[in-house]
Amino acid sequence: MSDPFADLHETLFADKDVLSEDYQPESILERDDEIEEYRHALSDVLFGRSPENIMLYGKAGLGKTAVTKYMMDALVDNAATREEADELHVHERNCNGKTLFTIVRGLVNDLLPPEASPFPKRGLGTADAFEELYAQLDRRGGTHLIVLDEIDHLEDADTLLYELPRARSNGHIETAHVGLIGISNNYTFREQLSPKVKDTLMETEISFSPYNAVELQTILENRAEKAFVDGGYDKSAINKAAAFAARDVGNARQAIDLLRVGGEVAEKRRAECVTDADIEEARTKVKRGRLENRIRDQTEHAQYILQAVAILESDDKTPARSKQIQGMYEAVATRCGADPLTTLKSIQDHLSELHMLGFLQRFERNEGRGGGQYHEHALDLDPEVVIEIRKQIESERGE
Ligand SMILES: Nc1ncnc2c1ncn2[C@@H]1O[C@H](COP(=O)(O)OP(=O)(O)OP(=O)(O)O)[C@@H](O)[C@H]1O
Ligand SMILES: [Mg+2]
Repeated sequence: MSDPFADLHETLFADKDVLSEDYQPESILERDDEIEEYRHALSDVLFGRSPENIMLYGKAGLGKTAVTKYMMDALVDNAATREEADELHVHERNCNGKTLFTIVRGLVNDLLPPEASPFPKRGLGTADAFEELYAQLDRRGGTHLIVLDEIDHLEDADTLLYELPRARSNGHIETAHVGLIGISNNYTFREQLSPKVKDTLMETEISFSPYNAVELQTILENRAEKAFVDGGYDKSAINKAAAFAARDVGNARQAIDLLRVGGEVAEKRRAECVTDADIEEARTKVKRGRLENRIRDQTEHAQYILQAVAILESDDKTPARSKQIQGMYEAVATRCGADPLTTLKSIQDHLSELHMLGFLQRFERNEGRGGGQYHEHALDLDPEVVIEIRKQIESERGE
């Protein structure tokens, strides 16, 4: 067989990694106010004083993680040049899907001398891990900044936020200084903390606001220059990606995704340049990708019910009553080799959940006197796309 890759020479991308999720930009653009607040909050570190605790808030893709990484790198460099500053250690942890024990254990392992065996996974508890953490912090001395990204996902953030900031005043540590930096995209995170934590944390809050289209243009242009070959993109394509992302909560991650996928679309059609039309196509693809993830997050039976409503929708049989949906759902579930849920109530529960999550529209019906009240549902999405995604998921399961 001939080499299927033989005719692949040209590429629009000079450095595609620049558009990947884990690329850390050298320069942070359009975040001067946040950087200024951050700079101020971190300044104690440079003078050998105890660091302030800091909480960053802001929706997804607004640069919280990127700005934090940038500030930490700069702070470590700067602290190394100052005599007054203690030795600085930064510990970055993402809390998503972690227990408090794993987080504290991870910190302990970070601090242990290289020859020591890691803190045991089993047999000891969180209190033991804290005790070891304090011992190791004091052994190392210096200043430790503990960055807890996505802290709102940590199941027992309360304990951590109570323990660590008070470790020094409680006499658990003597030589080391510890500062916490929490990052959350849930603004109500603070409200959920217990009153004693709220009272003792005394943190500086920095909030990140959504980017507007002009700010996103600046960020995208800077990336595009590095990512694409000379003349590899239209300026209007950048503006289009920025405008789309600005309209949809001002998320820089999304803007960069549009640019990357737009580049892929252009490359596939062997174009020399990314155009507006490529970004438009990228938008459909990115949207489909996001919907696919949301559907995949649903339980098996919720997915069957969603698929049933999509089929009814494409047959013009919606809004439909729960009983009708149940009939179609049973057919779908059986075809997928599952035992259907049997009660109408369980179908109705799933329908209200799917409505709450924005997949379905719900209509309240009143049959007049004696007829009672009931709900009808319709799909709040493109039925063809839902059916296609479900087909994809099922075909993977069959593999
Ligand atoms: N001001 C900026 N300058 C350059 N790149 C940026 C800027 N803001 C965000 N980015 C880029 O956008 C993407 C998303 O940013 P980041 O991961 O920091 O968002 P976040 O606020 O941490 O979001 P989440 O809450 O979802 O974790 C990253 O690729 C980041 O490099
Ligand atoms: Mg982040």
